Amino acid sequence: MTDTPTTWGGWAPAIRDDPFGHFAEARARCPVQRVRLADGHPAWVVLGYDAARHALNDPRISKDMLAALQDNGDVVAEGLPGPEFSRHMLNVDPPDHTRLRRLVSRAFVPPAIAALEPAIRAIASNLLDEMEAVGPHATVDLIEGYAYPLPFGVIGELLGIPAADRPRLHTWFQVLLTGWAGDPPPEAVEASDGIVAYLAELVAAKRQSPGSDLVSVLVAAEDDALTTQELLSSLFQLVVAGHDTTASLIGNGVVALLDHPGQLQALLADPGRLPVAIDELIRFTAPVPHATFRVTTEPVTLDGVEIPAHEQVLVSLGSANRDPGRFPAPDVLDIGRGDGPNLGFGHGIHYCLGAPLARLEARVAFEELLGRHPGLRLAADRDALAWAHGDGLVLRGLVSLPVVLGPSRREYVPVPAGIRG
Ligand code: HEM
Repeated sequence: MTDTPTTWGGWAPAIRDDPFGHFAEARARCPVQRVRLADGHPAWVVLGYDAARHALNDPRISKDMLAALQDNGDVVAEGLPGPEFSRHMLNVDPPDHTRLRRLVSRAFVPPAIAALEPAIRAIASNLLDEMEAVGPHATVDLIEGYAYPLPFGVIGELLGIPAADRPRLHTWFQVLLTGWAGDPPPEAVEASDGIVAYLAELVAAKRQSPGSDLVSVLVAAEDDALTTQELLSSLFQLVVAGHDTTASLIGNGVVALLDHPGQLQALLADPGRLPVAIDELIRFTAPVPHATFRVTTEPVTLDGVEIPAHEQVLVSLGSANRDPGRFPAPDVLDIGRGDGPNLGFGHGIHYCLGAPLARLEARVAFEELLGRHPGLRLAADRDALAWAHGDGLVLRGLVSLPVVLGPSRREYVPVPAGIRG
């Protein structure tokens, strides 16, 4: 342990675009260490796999940051849209966590997820049609045209957000999730206010005429099982958790495959390898590089390092997933890697509720994209690609991904057997 803590987050573009060397260096120095966040707040960062897994599963490390603020004014305060929208499952401990997660889980049972596949495939296919319309050799932005609107459309379906309302909601979320240093800029405040007002209207509409969507299910449970504040907070959290993460997985995954042509060819030769490949792409590209903030309610020892009570803890999933003690040759992308689960979807009671949906969306997204465009290629200098998101802590996705799709397999007219040479 050094006396002068290093700064964690708010990295220069070079580190933000490729943080893994930085993580490895810090992990080798000390897998659990005291740091200072970019905004000056002190915290502890957990970098080793075993310590990370333990931290995510230890009930003495709480997710209730609002309660923590009362014990230590130095923990990170709420971001937008403020405490009114912070009573969701990812911000509370049991028993509230158990209650809120159980209610939302109704929409995530395996048959409900499987039933979404045709809708996901239709969304993916329509987006590809739109991008193809500009021509096979034109440059298109795969983030704007595919990776982002696909999961956003799916979460819209799940929540019963009318298709006509999705574009403006989409724009607001993009502004809100871009991130900023210090006080939020006016456009972020405006976007946040827009989202808050929209979700309140949506809930009012579903109270009047309920459907089979998740908002209607939660509205039916309002008062008895959850408060209006918890309902609105849960909707907000589902939209945030449900789209940017998956968009980043698709974008980061495409770049990783283009960087590793041998792995891409193996996948093209056998698309049945996609389910395993997707978990490897999550491990390797870290769409969620750190879990959300936690706080110790009493002293906790991780990997021999004692973290005092009421201290903020940040678990680095991106670092833990490259720990050589857990994953042999961790910096190698291996779509057939068979060495068990990684921490990309978290661990313990807050393990990603949407993981089965995210895996399905990613599988369909890659099947459709690579199935139609096996010759997809980058249309920009690889070094010019930039990863975004404020301090670079919780989300890691590309700002844009210029590609040339190449001819669509749909355009190949099969030659009738009789006239083959
Ligand atoms: C590649 C895509 C995704 C990744 C990498 C991802 C990752 C994560 C991680 C790491 C956590 C735990 C955070 C923590 O412990 O601090 C989490 C929680 C959560 N995720 Fe995801 N997620 C993805 C997609 C989704 C989708 C599509 C949904 C829903 C539509 C979703 C809904 C949730 C929810 C509700 C939680 C909170 C669970 C709880 O607190 O019990 N996620 N996710």
